[in-house]
Amino acid sequence: MKRKILVTSALPYANGPLHLGHLVEYTQTDIWARYQRLRGHECLYFCADDAHGTPIMLRAQSEGITPEALIERMHAEHLRDFTDFGIGFDLYHSTHSPENFQISQDLYRALRANEHIIVREIEQAYDPVAEMFLPDRFIRGTCPRCKAPDQYGDNCEVCGATYSPTDLLDARSAVSGATPVRRSSEHYFFELGDFTEFLQQWIHSGTLQEEMANKLDEWFTAGLSDWDISRDAPYFGIPIPDAPGKFFYVWLDALPGYMAATQHWCYKHGRNFDEFWGQGADAELYHFIGKDIIYFHALFWPAMLQGSGHRLPTGVFAHGHLTINGAKMSKSRGTSITARQYLEQLDPEFLRYYFACKLNSHVEDIDLNLEDFLLKGNGDLVGKVVNLASRAAGFIHKHFAGHLADSLGEDQPFYAQLAAKQEEIAASYEAREYARAMREIMTIADQLNAYVDQHAPWLLAKDDTQRDTLQRVCTVILNGFRLLITLLSPVLPRLAQRSSAFLRCELSWDGVQHPLLAHSIEPYSHLLQRMEKTHVDSLIQEPSQPIPPAPTTSKAEQAPKSETIGIEDFGKVDLRIARIVAAEAVEGADKLLHLTLDIGEAQTRSVFAGIKSAYDPATLVGRLTVMVANLTPRKMRFGLSEGMVLAASGDASGPFLLSPDSGAQPGMRVK
Ligand code: 2FM
Ligand code: ZN
Repeated sequence: MKRKILVTSALPYANGPLHLGHLVEYTQTDIWARYQRLRGHECLYFCADDAHGTPIMLRAQSEGITPEALIERMHAEHLRDFTDFGIGFDLYHSTHSPENFQISQDLYRALRANEHIIVREIEQAYDPVAEMFLPDRFIRGTCPRCKAPDQYGDNCEVCGATYSPTDLLDARSAVSGATPVRRSSEHYFFELGDFTEFLQQWIHSGTLQEEMANKLDEWFTAGLSDWDISRDAPYFGIPIPDAPGKFFYVWLDALPGYMAATQHWCYKHGRNFDEFWGQGADAELYHFIGKDIIYFHALFWPAMLQGSGHRLPTGVFAHGHLTINGAKMSKSRGTSITARQYLEQLDPEFLRYYFACKLNSHVEDIDLNLEDFLLKGNGDLVGKVVNLASRAAGFIHKHFAGHLADSLGEDQPFYAQLAAKQEEIAASYEAREYARAMREIMTIADQLNAYVDQHAPWLLAKDDTQRDTLQRVCTVILNGFRLLITLLSPVLPRLAQRSSAFLRCELSWDGVQHPLLAHSIEPYSHLLQRMEKTHVDSLIQEPSQPIPPAPTTSKAEQAPKSETIGIEDFGKVDLRIARIVAAEAVEGADKLLHLTLDIGEAQTRSVFAGIKSAYDPATLVGRLTVMVANLTPRKMRFGLSEGMVLAASGDASGPFLLSPDSGAQPGMRVK
């Protein structure tokens, strides 16, 4: 029976580039959608940019453009990256769309009519200069526990303390620098507690992975609280009906973004929205998401749907996070790799395959080990699969003018036994057990390679009496190749497309039961190039040498190495012991860390140092070093640099930050 299926991936925020962490989810969803289509089902895959919220509004402001211009640019960039990775959306929409305004507001009206909305006055931090309420992450100040300066309003990146913005010492707004004041305003709340029984039952109804359902149980123990769904102007978002100056919190309109994309697509294709979202919808509906947003999709969203008279998701599938070489992606380790950086070096098919080899139906983190990635991609895809085609096609063209044999002869049962594996591989795809599917497919590849070795076509080619055997053997190999590519096609759409042109045949699920016989193929041309180690290595940004943040070149720096200077010249340099009290990466600067230095006498200095390649900022805090304290401050793109720290470096190693022996104190002069 032909199924009607709608799948979604989480909507990425429109304020930054896509990175490899994002791609795990889109690849996982895309493979599933392509598999369903390969089986002849209707499977629509919708996604969109998540375009609203304070960070997007402020980023546009800082770029001096409108939020609309920013989200338009991000939408184009995201869609280009997705397309180049072979992610086959039926529609990539935006939450800033007329459909979403309408749907979010209607959904809210329905919840209000059903008495699930209440209004309460709450007090929050307000920036009197920027004239806006401040989300916690836009309040900065000194950590109440470790006294590290310039920490976020909700947690300290230095000591890990969590607190509320009112606990910060010398709190200030990250928007204007002003001291926030407390101000109250009316907020709109969705009464999630009204759905307690329904949700408790729903999350254990087989819709969620068991580990996620168990995790969510914790929420019921504490009792479900009301969800604050409003934000005060100025806010880039969707206005709340009948509430002037109030907007929906970004998550309230992000979830209906799935519906808005459906609506837009239905309009374009003359289809009925209710087939997918109406109460009696006959379509299956699946959301693929990261484990960190399970609360939104498995508590708030089903409650919103239930409370507004819509259907519920058939399944919510959460995945784990991506690590690179065993560690969290990090800018200072150079492992925060964007989708575009990857595409500039390597064929996306390799990453899609690697993710497939790691993905299963559970919520486990997956590791991209770059050495393993290189071996697997080249070994499996080039070595075991594509090589079958290149070897056999050469003989078919040289000796048979590109024609395959009329029959598989005595090898028919061998081929039939390989093709019979189709059903178990189908079951693995269906259950999102892609790692298992890849193992099953590679077992077929191994059997085909053993067949090649056993029949040694290169020897048959030397013997004129073996022409028929040579043609038959090569025909078996090429049909085996076609089988493998068909089975891999949900994972490797580009390779499948190139292979289909090479074989001069459409790839289809049922087609593999009917081998290509008495059929001519194209001459072989490269279907997939091996990855070079240098390209894989270059995904990780190279450690860089420190760049001198010094404003002016001192006489000592100008002097050729052999020249000496007098003690009076050296005496002009004010070298001091400094304690690093805060260290953080600088957005937009690959090499720099922003250091706050205590140089004694209650003085601090802000310095930008080119040492990011060698130091994780968190490990620097509290450490003593040596700084030049009397350099003329230098205005850099990121702020004012008030001196420099001293570090040693060799041609290819370092930088190594200098440190005094124990006992030295901040402010001591170095002579
Ligand atoms: O966590 C995020 O990146 C959100 N932008 C995901 C939204 S998914 C859906 F609800 F729209
Ligand atoms: Zn702290």
